[in-house]
Amino acid sequence: MTILVTGGAGYIGSHVVTVLLAAGRKVVVLDNFCNSDPSVVERLERITGCPVPLVHSDVRDRERVADTLRRFGVDSVIHFAGLKAVGESVSKPIEYYGANIQGTISLLEAMQSEKVGQLVFSSSATVYGDPGYLPIDESHPTSATNPYGRSKLHIEEMLKDVALASPSWKIVCLRYFNPVGAHASGLIGEDPAGIPNNLMPFVAQVATGQRSFLRVFGQDYPTSDGTGVRDYIHVMDLAEGHSAALRFVADHPGWNAINLGTGRGTSVLEMVSAFERASGRPIPHEVVDRRPGDIASCYADPTLARQLLGWQATRGVDDMCSSTLAWQKNR
Ligand code: NAD
Ligand code: UFG
Repeated sequence: MTILVTGGAGYIGSHVVTVLLAAGRKVVVLDNFCNSDPSVVERLERITGCPVPLVHSDVRDRERVADTLRRFGVDSVIHFAGLKAVGESVSKPIEYYGANIQGTISLLEAMQSEKVGQLVFSSSATVYGDPGYLPIDESHPTSATNPYGRSKLHIEEMLKDVALASPSWKIVCLRYFNPVGAHASGLIGEDPAGIPNNLMPFVAQVATGQRSFLRVFGQDYPTSDGTGVRDYIHVMDLAEGHSAALRFVADHPGWNAINLGTGRGTSVLEMVSAFERASGRPIPHEVVDRRPGDIASCYADPTLARQLLGWQATRGVDDMCSSTLAWQKNR
């Protein structure tokens, strides 16, 4: 039995592939490389010593996806393929709804026609909007403030309806908090094009001298040091969470949404200090105005993942920073 990993050449998908192959599972990666490079698949083969079959296709090509499910004897799908930049989604809503929502519908049609009912979907803590309380558990109200977030919310609702319609569907939506870090080999990691939007890749580029300083977006939040607090989760912990979700989904018909976070909040300045420890050098930074749309604090209640999946994050911020730095130097 084989797992189809859509978007498997991307940041999170590639790390998940290493964990699945290490656990003796078979995978097939389907990716259109709109935000990744085919060389990732070769690097995955180097890391794991296993062949990684690749289908170069858009997830919206339903026939191609159905053919992939058939040819490889796929029994479960992990669906990462989609667009993820919040700012870009505001200026390109049609592209975002097309890739994310149309992409998921097309995948579901192919799965239905090939009688494949097990699905793990990449959702996001963004579905909680501006947190009403902390830590955020899965019963926190959901909302969206931009097309990216709305696409995740619509997909979650759609998947709930699909699971309600027939017990042959077994669906888990994993709500990621802030994935960071990289595989210990230094061969794969987050590879943003252009100027990074997110904190960790930006700090990594300051640490390696590609950028001169970090702009800290606001120091007037109601947090311990005034800077934004997030639940950073090591991408290898996240990857192990997917492996646990696949085991869970195999005998749990219906729909579940589960947080993947550590339960710990870390401020921007704490992350900068951790990166300084990892690199042995100061990270020049300057406080500027708040970034529009940012929230003060966001961290998970990870209890449900522990209860349902038997999974919890084990890696700390020092490992997140040192692995990011190793990958940044190798890129
Ligand atoms: P990524 O961009 O690195 O990976 C996505 C992969 O999907 C890329 O390889 C891209 O080429 C591929 N892809 C995109 N559209 C496609 C399409 N239509 N057909 C086939 N392939 C396509 O992103 P990531 O950080 O690995 O995120 C993976 C998933 O997790 C996304 O759905 C994202 O929304 C979600 N997520 C990410 C984060 C994060 O901070 N990285 C947080 C929460 C949720
Ligand atoms: N930050 C800076 N300077 C930077 C970049 C970020 O100070 O150059 C700060 C932000 O203000 C925030 C923290 O670092 O306080 C984290 O910011 P990120 O951009 O790394 O992450 P966000 O929590 O803002 O966004 C992430 C994903 C989104 C997702 C959201 C909610 O990037 O896709 O989490 O899950 F929608």
